[in-house]
Amino acid sequence: MTRSCAKWCFPLLMLTGLFIHVACMSISEYAAEKQRIINLEESVRFGSSLVLDKQERMISDILITAKRAEIEASRVNGTVFSPAINFFKSRNRIGSSKVFQIIKRMPKGGALHTHGSAITSLDWLVRNVTYRSNCYMCYDKYGHLQMHFYDTPPKNSYCQWESVKHVRERSGNAHLFDQQLIRNISIIVDDPDSTYVTVNDVWHKFSLYFKVVNGLYRYTPIFKDYLQQALREFEEDNVQYIEIRATLSPLYELNGTKHDQEHKLQAYRDTINDYMTTHPDFIGCKLIQSGIRFYKKVDILDDIKSYIKYQQNYSDIVRGFDLIGQEGPGNPLSYYLDDLLYPSTLNPPVSVPYFFHAGETDWEGSQVDLNLVDAVLLNTTRIGHGFALHKHPRVMKMIKQKDIPIEVNPISNQVLKLVEDLRNHGAVALFADGYPLVVSSDDPAAWGALPLSHDFYMAYMAMTREDAGLEVLKQLAINSIQYSAMTSDEKMEAMKKWEKMWTEFIIETLRRYVRGGQVIG
Ligand SMILES: *[C@@H]1O[C@H](CO)[C@@H](O)[C@H](O)[C@H]1NC(C)=O
Ligand SMILES: *[C@@H]1O[C@H](CO)[C@@H](O)[C@H](O)[C@H]1NC(C)=O
Ligand SMILES: *[C@@H]1O[C@H](CO)[C@@H](O)[C@H](O)[C@H]1NC(C)=O
Ligand SMILES: *[C@@H]1O[C@H](CO)[C@@H](O)[C@H](O)[C@H]1NC(C)=O
Ligand SMILES: *[C@@H]1O[C@H](CO)[C@@H](O)[C@H](O)[C@H]1NC(C)=O
Ligand SMILES: *[C@@H]1O[C@H](CO)[C@@H](O)[C@H](O)[C@H]1NC(C)=O
Ligand SMILES: [Zn+2]
Repeated sequence: MTRSCAKWCFPLLMLTGLFIHVACMSISEYAAEKQRIINLEESVRFGSSLVLDKQERMISDILITAKRAEIEASRVNGTVFSPAINFFKSRNRIGSSKVFQIIKRMPKGGALHTHGSAITSLDWLVRNVTYRSNCYMCYDKYGHLQMHFYDTPPKNSYCQWESVKHVRERSGNAHLFDQQLIRNISIIVDDPDSTYVTVNDVWHKFSLYFKVVNGLYRYTPIFKDYLQQALREFEEDNVQYIEIRATLSPLYELNGTKHDQEHKLQAYRDTINDYMTTHPDFIGCKLIQSGIRFYKKVDILDDIKSYIKYQQNYSDIVRGFDLIGQEGPGNPLSYYLDDLLYPSTLNPPVSVPYFFHAGETDWEGSQVDLNLVDAVLLNTTRIGHGFALHKHPRVMKMIKQKDIPIEVNPISNQVLKLVEDLRNHGAVALFADGYPLVVSSDDPAAWGALPLSHDFYMAYMAMTREDAGLEVLKQLAINSIQYSAMTSDEKMEAMKKWEKMWTEFIIETLRRYVRGGQVIG
């Protein structure tokens, strides 16, 4: 039987030189062509160049099976897909996900994008720190909570300080009081869509969170415990390394004395070193000194000068400079251009490694959005968020050429209202095209996320293909070390520690899910 070619004529486009040919093809040719395109895409996606060994491939299959089940349950049967809804609502559901349970136990390497005021769980702050003596609280004239340590609290009418101990006793139910306090400080609400209508609404609450937490943890004796607790919580979540965007705002004493900036660096260093001596498997913690993008130019210049002053003597912990604070209404990088270029005008020029937040916005072409261009021109070492990057084809090219990693913070972008359904996050395009990426958590304590596991889960489930397996997660972990601010010697040490844990994780996971060659559980 002969069929006319026309009936089976699928257009096949072939580019030979400058000529485009349209040819006929059979069904099998069509299928081959389709597969060729799929394979090409497959070969460029994030993680595809990693070769997994036999054991890793078994775990990868387990992961993919679990991932598919979760996806298909939603795609076919319409169940709720956790990454598609606000984290405040999905948080409790995620715990039962098998994918999440595997990710939780996985050594994830480093969290390269975090902020000093939101790395230690609120639960610990309330149940531990607010129980210490000399802790006071008040509600100011706007009804906003403030907390602080004092020997004698200031007397004023707009905020009447009371000892937390007394308020807690008066409440008659310490447990309930603590629960409410956690709830009141955190930005978590039951109805995020109606409580926070705009980005600014949620940032307003977010700034109140920082105010309370800063009042607590900047008391010198608390600072050390706070940071140690953060390191412990990250390590318990199987994160071995942290980079913190840290301001040098001073630590204080009970009598109101404020210390200088160097004292804070010293406190960071001592605390981290203490932790390392008792936790030899931990890789470490480095700081990216940060100025605030609402401050005057002269303040940012001062910050840069102090960075230059300290970078020599504190090079063991301080590794770069950034500007922080809500990018939308804040000053763009270009506003501080003279100050940011200052180090390069010195004789001899001084190199300040920048780690700029850039493109954490939905406003295309605005000055915030253009921070991405400035960041690249200012030779940023990494880009924080880069949420708007997929709208900038030219910047994307430069980033790939220069191998500038993007720090993707899925949950932060969702709860701070840049995107609702994480499958629509711009980083999906970056994963698909193999960009240099790391995943981090930004301010996990502010919204009750685990130090890194929840964000890894979101990136894996919502931003990578249904058939993308363990190679994605392994690549993220490796990138978090390779793209860190560690020196090359430190990176080698770090990789050794991480590889050892990775091997243990593989063995332990196989033991948990495979019996006699069969996948169980
Ligand atoms: C959809 O639900 C049906 C009935 O509960 C179940 O048998 C089936 O396995 C589900 N399909 C998916 C893809 O989850
Ligand atoms: C929490 O906020 C509610 C509502 O503003 C208030 O009634 C309650 O006293 C607060 N509780 C604590 C412990 O802050
Ligand atoms: C508070 O945390 C410290 C460690 O930072 C710990 O030694 C202490 O036992 C904790 N106290 C309470 C009441 O949990
Ligand atoms: C305040 O307290 C600190 C630490 O206890 C002490 O070193 C300092 O001398 C005190 N300053 C004043 C003015 O009392
Ligand atoms: C760096 O440390 C050395 C030795 O402790 C000290 O002499 C020097 O003043 C310090 N430099 C700065 C800029 O603090
Ligand atoms: C960025 O790097 C390029 C190439 O190394 C150099 O020419 C340029 O001066 C640098 N720009 C800044 C602002 O340091
Ligand atoms: Zn950030």
